[in-house]
Amino acid sequence: MSGNVLVVIGAGGMGMAIARRCGKDSLVMLADIGEVSSALADEAYDVRTQQVDVSDLISVAALAKAAAELGPVQSVVHTAGLSPMQSPADRVIAVDLLGTAHVIDAFGPVIVAGGAAVVISSMAGHLTGGLPAADEAAIAAADAADLAALPCVRAAAAGDPGLAYAFAKAAVSALVRAAAQPWGRRGARINAISPGVIDTSMGKAELDGPSGGFMRTMVEVSGAGRLGTPDDIAAATEFLLSPNAAFITGADLLVDGGVVAAVRSGQLG
Ligand SMILES: NC(=O)c1ccc[n+]([C@@H]2O[C@H](COP(=O)([O-])OP(=O)(O)OC[C@H]3O[C@@H](n4cnc5c(N)ncnc54)[C@H](O)[C@@H]3O)[C@@H](O)[C@H]2O)c1
Repeated sequence: MSGNVLVVIGAGGMGMAIARRCGKDSLVMLADIGEVSSALADEAYDVRTQQVDVSDLISVAALAKAAAELGPVQSVVHTAGLSPMQSPADRVIAVDLLGTAHVIDAFGPVIVAGGAAVVISSMAGHLTGGLPAADEAAIAAADAADLAALPCVRAAAAGDPGLAYAFAKAAVSALVRAAAQPWGRRGARINAISPGVIDTSMGKAELDGPSGGFMRTMVEVSGAGRLGTPDDIAAATEFLLSPNAAFITGADLLVDGGVVAAVRSGQLG
């Protein structure tokens, strides 16, 4: 046991797989708005749990403080999120976008030199072609507390949940790009991962929803031709947290089995 702390926010399908793969040699702080499974503690991981609502900056700041009191915060992985099938647009923005801004804001001051964070975004932000340059610049310049008032964020929160989700995830990647320099000044790195369709409860809910047929077609035409597993995302996270990724920061790694590649090269039919 190294004594280092790994914070995993969101203890759902991906969060548990990431904690299991990346937490063997760390003290793992698992945080979620809901109940956290005792599975890892039962498997002899050293686990602490804390309730957090990422849409509330005070709640996230309390989590960062509690994590720092446990030891050096070496790694932070943010997986908490809501999908368009689960929530209206305003909650998608509050949790997926503002929640990520809160995590970056609260953990920036506590991550140790040599540490790294991974934030889970989505291929949805890539499928819509990313943000207009003016929106990206406004999002990059805004404090977490001011983000909700930006006209582009307000418009997304008042619209369709699916479009709000794609906007939020494109904006999450923009937040990560904007954070890379200040985190770098403290000797830490931060990256995003954009998963494709992953076999978790959230992924299953989306596949069972109105966009499910389209999503299955995208998966069928992709290079991998299959759904992703939570461990596919955990493996990419393990790499980005490790010294092997020492020169990678501010990046957004697509881990989608080639869905975006197939769509953008016109292979969807
Ligand atoms: N599953 C997919 O197909 C897929 C694809 C692309 C991106 N993603 C993204 O990956 C991330 C992880 O998704 P997952 O598949 O593990 O989903 P999941 O539903 O299994 O886990 C998400 C977790 O976030 C928690 N959560 C929700 N709101 C919260 C809040 N306000 N504060 C704290 N915790 C909260 C939930 O309780 C849940 O445990 C999400 O950001 C999601 O948008 C998922």
